[in-house]
Amino acid sequence: MTIIRTDPLSSPHCPHIDKDRELIHVDCASHIYPDGSVGIHDMCFYVQKNEIVALCGPNGSGKSTLIEHLNGLLTPSEGNIAVNGRSITKGELTDLWREVGVVFQQSDDQLFAPTVLDDVMFGPLNMGMSREAALNAATGALEAVGAADLVQKLPNYLSGGQKRLISIAGILAMKPRIIALDEPTSDLDPVHSGMIEDLILELKQRFGISVVIATHDLDLAARIADRVCLVRKGSVFAEGKPDEIFYDEELLQETGLKPPQIVRVYRAYCRMQGIPADQHPISIEGMMVAIRGK
Ligand SMILES: Nc1ncnc2c1ncn2[C@@H]1O[C@H](COP(=O)(O)OP(=O)(O)OP(=O)(O)O)[C@@H](O)[C@H]1O
Ligand SMILES: [Mg+2]
Repeated sequence: MTIIRTDPLSSPHCPHIDKDRELIHVDCASHIYPDGSVGIHDMCFYVQKNEIVALCGPNGSGKSTLIEHLNGLLTPSEGNIAVNGRSITKGELTDLWREVGVVFQQSDDQLFAPTVLDDVMFGPLNMGMSREAALNAATGALEAVGAADLVQKLPNYLSGGQKRLISIAGILAMKPRIIALDEPTSDLDPVHSGMIEDLILELKQRFGISVVIATHDLDLAARIADRVCLVRKGSVFAEGKPDEIFYDEELLQETGLKPPQIVRVYRAYCRMQGIPADQHPISIEGMMVAIRGK
């Protein structure tokens, strides 16, 4: 069911969260940057076990600022953030990076070691793993992202798509419970985008990791997210399943977003055929089934 959080008085500001499944709870957090810019404002957001959550919103709406709060890179000026029930605002959780791995939009912000292997081993070694365990973790992560052949390469000389894969491997090697990826498919060709998409699904299905993605690619969000959060002016404005959110034209307009391509194609087809667009397909396969049923 879509939850619209426009009126904090008539609905609880933070929606009801299943405490047994809760991994992260951002509770009315605000962040003001040193120059006075508002990064997030009264942000309420949560991540549950075994889910993929997509943060969708226009430029400057606060998606990256929120993501940087999830592993403690930024701390809220107001409000609270809890991971596994431990509040970081009260200083209880200093090793947040063990629980939440963040993959930045710019891979160059993340890669720094002389070789790919050194880079991917850095996190595990820093966590206190032995060299042998770190090597195993790094090798396993590089295999999982399909980049085992890049192991001896220099990160500087990799392509954008390869750098993105190595950044994800570096996070995966630390075996966090949650991985947040900021614009994971931006600047990637369709093949690399597809690899990242498959990998995100695998993180959830094979490794049981919950994934947060901030993305402008609403078609990607429609295909892989269990839950979509619309971000506007520094807070989550509405949330729901992709087929609910992406078929709500008014909601998208208010957020400043356009419906995903699949929604526009389905509507155009129904209009052309003079049939009601009364189903909510969000994948090509789903659209075929919806059309065939007419
Ligand atoms: N380091 C910073 N110093 C000052 N203001 C900042 C800083 N980083 C972000 N902001 C401001 O905070 C607000 C939210 O920015 P943020 O980068 O979180 O948005 P976003 O939703 O990730 O945007 P985009 O889709 O363009 O990546 C913007 O107004 C931005 O100008
Ligand atoms: Mg951003």
